[in-house]
Amino acid sequence: MDVDVLDRILAARPKVTATDLSPLLQEIQVGYGYLPPGVLLEMSRRTGIPASQIYGVATFYEQFHLEPHGRHTVRCCRGTACHVKGGHGMIQAVSRELGIAEGETTADMRFTFETVACLGTCFLAPVVMVDKDYYGNMTPTRVRGILDRYK
Ligand code: FES
Repeated sequence: MDVDVLDRILAARPKVTATDLSPLLQEIQVGYGYLPPGVLLEMSRRTGIPASQIYGVATFYEQFHLEPHGRHTVRCCRGTACHVKGGHGMIQAVSRELGIAEGETTADMRFTFETVACLGTCFLAPVVMVDKDYYGNMTPTRVRGILDRYK
């Protein structure tokens, strides 16, 4: 386990308490690209914060990833408004284009593919989101062109 990043992060914080967990986990995720379990256990050992508490925060917030995550995140909506306008076809098209299933990351670490209950833009249904960009009124034929924008 490479703990160089953890060393650097903890060296900048002489005293770490449980109230620091969220920003600390953000820094670790930026450093490693995700939250490696071995690093979290090492952090628990060094700070005295129980691993259960660290994992509690890491699993509560959607922004944290316990598995390696792609550089870009593709989110397909599986909510009702999107479903009735062909959202399932978008999920199939993204899965086919990326060659992975929901919850997986491409081998080149370019994309992670997720589905969500609602992206909050039902008026644009069906919706696909890449990182912070929304693509509304989607059709399966547009999927490839949109993914090509993200290298
Ligand atoms: S149901 Fe798809 S954005 Fe709300």
